[in-house]
Amino acid sequence: MPREIRKVGVVGLGTMGAGIAQVFVQAGVETVGREVSRELCERARERIAHYLGRGVEKGRLTAAEKEAALARLTTTTELADLAGCDLVVEAILEELDAKRELFRALEDVVGAEAVLATNTSALSVTEIARATATPERVVGMHFFNPAPVLPLVEVVRTELASDEAVDAAFAFAERVGKAPIRCNDTPGFVVNRILIPLLNDCVRVLDEAGVTPEDLDKAMTTGVNWPIGPCALIDLIGVDVHVHASEALHGALGEERMAPPERLVRMRDEGLLGRKTGRGFFSYDA
Ligand SMILES: NC(=O)c1ccc[n+]([C@@H]2O[C@H](COP(=O)([O-])OP(=O)(O)OC[C@H]3O[C@@H](n4cnc5c(N)ncnc54)[C@H](O)[C@@H]3O)[C@@H](O)[C@H]2O)c1
Repeated sequence: MPREIRKVGVVGLGTMGAGIAQVFVQAGVETVGREVSRELCERARERIAHYLGRGVEKGRLTAAEKEAALARLTTTTELADLAGCDLVVEAILEELDAKRELFRALEDVVGAEAVLATNTSALSVTEIARATATPERVVGMHFFNPAPVLPLVEVVRTELASDEAVDAAFAFAERVGKAPIRCNDTPGFVVNRILIPLLNDCVRVLDEAGVTPEDLDKAMTTGVNWPIGPCALIDLIGVDVHVHASEALHGALGEERMAPPERLVRMRDEGLLGRKTGRGFFSYDA
């Protein structure tokens, strides 16, 4: 495994990948981001520049630090440009076959010492690792959304992973200012295994107990001291993302509470996805 992680790759610069790349460049790490088109590369760079700019406005970093961070980011559509990376974090769409194909291709591009990490939320890291000839260097690095804001990274160990790969991913997460934990490749890892059925229970209570989203959120913020109400949290996560994660967890573990409540499936089908569409349980300004 690499003695020192000097250069990292991020594959897929969507919601998560762009945020993860931002974390890395802000922490001073040279980063190569790979997307499927030049246009998506540019869009990701603009998003990262926008969020760094907001940080400058709020006094969290200087304009010079913003420019230095952006200068550490290169983007490419060619997987071969990840050749010199000591760690690659994959954040492409949540599809097993696409991820397995990517990891197989990555293995031929990066050096033998490089660590390969997936940001999957609901797929088996082991199944992804098994697509490669070197599963010992494949781990999960599960960041939370928004990655630049939330400190947690679940560092996921499969039974095939080496101590060196897991330790390298853990140490790197700490180095870039995150708060990693170690966990195993079990469905939902730690947070989603708890949070998904819990949020589903909250939604079921809306109908069972005949309370409004406003009152449910008020109950949990003022009675239990949650920092955000469950309905506001689902709006933030995205109703579609939450339903998808619920289906995956239910499929893996079969517990009824894990299945998405009908009300959420209806909201998803009607396009009431939460903050990203301006309407979910609550309405949001554009
Ligand atoms: N959104 C969340 O809240 C969240 C949180 C934690 C983990 N995740 C996981 O992170 C991953 C990405 O999720 P997202 O929400 O950022 O998705 P997204 O759809 O916003 O971004 C995925 C990006 O990957 C790109 N892409 C697809 N195939 C590619 C390839 N072969 N090479 C390079 N780029 C490719 C797409 O063009 C797209 O821009 C998923 O595995 C998801 O489960 C998501």
